[in-house]
Amino acid sequence: MFEALKAPPPDKIIQLIGMYAADPRTEKLDLGVGVYKDPQGSTPIMRAVKAAEHRLWKEQETKTYLSVLGDKSFVTGMAGLILGDSVAPERIGGGQTPGGTGAVRQLAELVKRATPDATVWYSDPTWPNHPQILAHVGLAAKTYRYYDAEAGAVSFEAMCEDLKAAKAGDVVILHGCCHNPTGANLSLEQWQALTAQIGEQGLVPFVDLAYQGFGDGLEEDVAGLRHLAATLPEVMLAASCSKNFGLYRDRVGAAIVIGKDAEAAKVTEANIGALNRLNFSFPPDHGAKVVSLILHDAELRADWIAELEDMRLNMLTLRKGLAEALRREANSDRFDYIAVHRGMFTQLGGTLEKVAKLREEHGVYMVGTGRINIAGLPADGLDKLAKAIVAVGI
Ligand code: LMR
Repeated sequence: MFEALKAPPPDKIIQLIGMYAADPRTEKLDLGVGVYKDPQGSTPIMRAVKAAEHRLWKEQETKTYLSVLGDKSFVTGMAGLILGDSVAPERIGGGQTPGGTGAVRQLAELVKRATPDATVWYSDPTWPNHPQILAHVGLAAKTYRYYDAEAGAVSFEAMCEDLKAAKAGDVVILHGCCHNPTGANLSLEQWQALTAQIGEQGLVPFVDLAYQGFGDGLEEDVAGLRHLAATLPEVMLAASCSKNFGLYRDRVGAAIVIGKDAEAAKVTEANIGALNRLNFSFPPDHGAKVVSLILHDAELRADWIAELEDMRLNMLTLRKGLAEALRREANSDRFDYIAVHRGMFTQLGGTLEKVAKLREEHGVYMVGTGRINIAGLPADGLDKLAKAIVAVGI
């Protein structure tokens, strides 16, 4: 039977992790997978997470099954963190998922269940797993233009123009903040205009939110999303705690839905539960319980927010530092957009060949055509990196 299988096409990000690990050079630099690193180059467990884990270890008395929707207090805590009071609570439903990827997968399956003929629109470029999951689930997909590489900015007019071709009931994947891979984000005014267009055309937004707190701040990063959620009758939301709680390997995420009324939210939530049961039954509890403890405890929450803010500011400093180093090295302002972008990533305007050259000749690892993980930048090696980037002709 197994001889019928072909080797699967590699996932670009997973492949890069393997290539970096296999590189024997000590001077290598990992700007690939989106993992936060502190100035010492490690990815520490956040203070509030450690404290919550400690509390859990002392107080948790059983590990028996919860519900197929996971821990209710985690889901309501996440909905509150993301949506604030923009939507009436009875219109919100949701379930816990293994990571943000789990949420994307479960919501894609929900779309397939509800409207199998819908086309799902996603940004060009996007996180490579979006199209992979859509294809795996069997949904038709199309892209909309998103990024003007010359300007290093969102090509909003082109985006709106392409979305005009979507038909009522089609689904639009949007990055809630900190667009992956470009780092170029919609302004609040653009969110407002897009919300109006989505509403007029009867489209359904599917927001992937994996970096809340990494861009302009916890509240600022979801201002556009909150406007969208407050305005439209139906919204899907895939939330991840991998980055902002640093819980990568614990797989903590939520598939949240906003229905047009309480009944719709209830039925949709029940479908997420049924899909969970089919795919993995009960979602993993530990990380979600940790997040729930943090979100519902004033002291832990305040400490988590403070540490998250330090991480955000550290990335912002590195961003500005690299933009300045490249300005000096290239003797041009063509990289200034790096300082304007927000979040964990920036898309450098490279080709696959130039990015490969950078990897082979300088040991610098980037995803695809030049997505860099800002948190991986070396604070004391920005000039050297800028030299290498300019030397390969990016
Ligand atoms: C990334 O884009 O690097 C992260 O979201 C990690 C992943 O799962 O791809």
